[in-house]
Amino acid sequence: MKKEHVVIYPGTFDPITIGHLNIIKRALRIFDKVIIAVAEDTTKDTLFTVEERVQMIKESLKGYKNVEVDTFKGLLMEYAKKKGVHTILRGLRTVQDFEYELQMALANKKLNPNCETIFMMTEGAYSYFSSSLIKEIAHLKGNIKDMVPPPVEKMIKKKFFNKEV
Ligand code: COA
Repeated sequence: MKKEHVVIYPGTFDPITIGHLNIIKRALRIFDKVIIAVAEDTTKDTLFTVEERVQMIKESLKGYKNVEVDTFKGLLMEYAKKKGVHTILRGLRTVQDFEYELQMALANKKLNPNCETIFMMTEGAYSYFSSSLIKEIAHLKGNIKDMVPPPVEKMIKKKFFNKEV
């Protein structure tokens, strides 16, 4: 039987952006399955609850096969072990990401030597996106249509202005 190649794409996803989706869709051409793992314990002060973040990802990826949306608590490496997955995918946007990602990849390798972190370069058009930047623009009533999928735009507007779009 052919071995299934599964990858975990972890993050806070507060909220998921078009940049994250681009990485997921490209990863689906390489891997048999992508597990999007939403971190419950994060140092970030999140705008959305973990349930809301999961709901937005599921709605944004409606119709996509071979995608699992899950949450995890505690160490990512413990979660990977539990899932029996040996590959972690991270996106790289600019050189600023590199040092943080290198530190995290090395620490994760120390914790679980059987797990590899691989990186995918973000497509140029999305390299300046971040969830915080998008939340700031939305809060100041800027247009975020081309930055987030429609379910996310709807949720952000509801959160900030209690308004349906
Ligand atoms: N397009 C657009 N934006 C992107 C992007 C892309 N392709 N890739 C990343 N980003 C943005 C995110 O929106 C986010 O923006 P923000 O900082 O404004 O919120 C930022 O880049 C980084 O976010 P993300 O990729 O989601 O990673 P993260 O730093 O939020 O998540 C975890 C890091 C959760 C994976 C990591 O902290 C973790 O594994 N935690 C579990 C505990 C653990 O094991 N700790 C030890 C780790 S060594």
